Amino acid sequence: MRNIAIGFVVGVGVGAGGTYIYLQQNPGRLIRSTSSSTIWPAADPMRDQAIHDFGSPMSEFVRVYDSYAASYDPRTRTPKWVLEHITAKDLEGDANRNKSQFFEDNQIDPAFRATLESYKDSGYDRGHMAPAGDNKSSQKALNETFSLTNICPQVGLGFNRDYWERFERYVRDLTKKAGDVYVVTGPLWIPKPDVDGKWNMQHPMIGQPPGLIAVPTHFYKVILADGRRGKGSSREVGVGAFVMPNAPIDPQLPLTAFTVPLEPLEQLAGMRFFPNFINATRRSAMDQAALAWRQYGMQQLKPFDRVSLCQDMAALPAPSGQLLLTSGSSSPSSNAAMSSTSSMTAVPEHQISVPKTRSVAGTTHLCEIAGGCKLPPPGSWQKNQQSNKQLKGSSSGHSSGSSGGGSSGTSGGGGRPSNPGGGGRSV
Ligand SMILES: *[C@@H]1O[C@H](CO)[C@@H](O)[C@H](O)[C@H]1NC(C)=O
Ligand SMILES: *[C@@H]1O[C@H](CO)[C@@H](O)[C@H](O)[C@H]1NC(C)=O
Ligand SMILES: *[C@@H]1O[C@H](CO)[C@@H](O)[C@H](O)[C@H]1NC(C)=O
Ligand SMILES: *[C@@H]1O[C@H](CO)[C@@H](O)[C@H](O)[C@H]1NC(C)=O
Repeated sequence: MRNIAIGFVVGVGVGAGGTYIYLQQNPGRLIRSTSSSTIWPAADPMRDQAIHDFGSPMSEFVRVYDSYAASYDPRTRTPKWVLEHITAKDLEGDANRNKSQFFEDNQIDPAFRATLESYKDSGYDRGHMAPAGDNKSSQKALNETFSLTNICPQVGLGFNRDYWERFERYVRDLTKKAGDVYVVTGPLWIPKPDVDGKWNMQHPMIGQPPGLIAVPTHFYKVILADGRRGKGSSREVGVGAFVMPNAPIDPQLPLTAFTVPLEPLEQLAGMRFFPNFINATRRSAMDQAALAWRQYGMQQLKPFDRVSLCQDMAALPAPSGQLLLTSGSSSPSSNAAMSSTSSMTAVPEHQISVPKTRSVAGTTHLCEIAGGCKLPPPGSWQKNQQSNKQLKGSSSGHSSGSSGGGSSGTSGGGGRPSNPGGGGRSV
């Protein structure tokens, strides 16, 4: 408690967008940030001051580590966002995750802390937001990713240990192709329409009240690859945003199907990403590109998968039915062929024209650079784990690429692995 209450002001923002930040210097620094002064216009600074005489509510904690910065939300007992800067050199070295252990963040008031006990036998993995694999260059930095401030409950089989792990590898690989990579990762709670058309949100909680940890329905990553100084092929800044349900995902689904425009993601998440770079011009160009890439990905899905993914992500705009059936630059005859087949089967990838999206103000959609948005194949980790006794008897149904579509995760958070969680991997 004391840790949080003391601390000194390093910056008091006056005027629009300013933020009050109290920084306590400490290993694993704790920064407390309170609401933006946009809520209280600074027209009368004295009044602003008086309002804070007895302190404003403490509700958000920003932690800064070597390997990442995170904003911890004591209401959900998960991070709100975790920001990383990954360079190729962070990925070299022999820091070993076997030497790290999950730990509770003792800089957070015990009343608000996520506990190891809550995850135990919860059925969920302790899923890293900043992946452990992003910092092999230092054991200390790798250790820090095991703080529960960097952790959310994630479905293990078919998600954290599979599709999401490949997604994390995709991000690491970007450092080789597209320069420095900045990533914001975090949980989302997004509603679905009920049968009566009203919006409704349901999600499990783990642990014991009142210290429950909320299980996210979805996760997001917003990726910015800065190729301007890099050795890679792109000399631009690539930006892409992705949202995935916290559920098993068929390994065959293309990553492009999870591309989302920034604006609605920001509205759902309640935050702006990379605000020093992404202005309205860039946002709207990237959002158009994102829809084109999403359409490209959705066209490759079997109709069942397409429908269930649209249901899972109903709160985010999907490409319209029209968009799903037509294709930007192919000939009218192939369009016709496509519409007639698309209601029956997935359109083979080679029949879909790859979107050509524009670069605006030095900014390109991430899928436009670095060889498109293609996930690496399932890794040796997954293969090794098939025989690992921890997963015995429960892995095949989720990770073998079943084509029935049931594995694409219509349950948005409900799909629990049958093995006890809390011990799981979380790369
Ligand atoms: C990894 O650790 C090093 C050394 O602590 C740090 O300089 C670097 O920023 C970290 N990398 C990432 C991905 O944050
Ligand atoms: C970590 O431990 C597992 C089994 O305990 C072992 O198979 C693996 O090789 C180890 N990883 C490293 C990098 O040492
Ligand atoms: C990393 O964590 C392990 C176990 O929690 C600990 O034994 C080790 O000393 C830590 N290493 C560093 C460099 O902090
Ligand atoms: C956004 O930034 C770019 C590059 O600096 C600039 O060309 C553009 O006019 C800016 N747009 C807005 C709305 O400020």
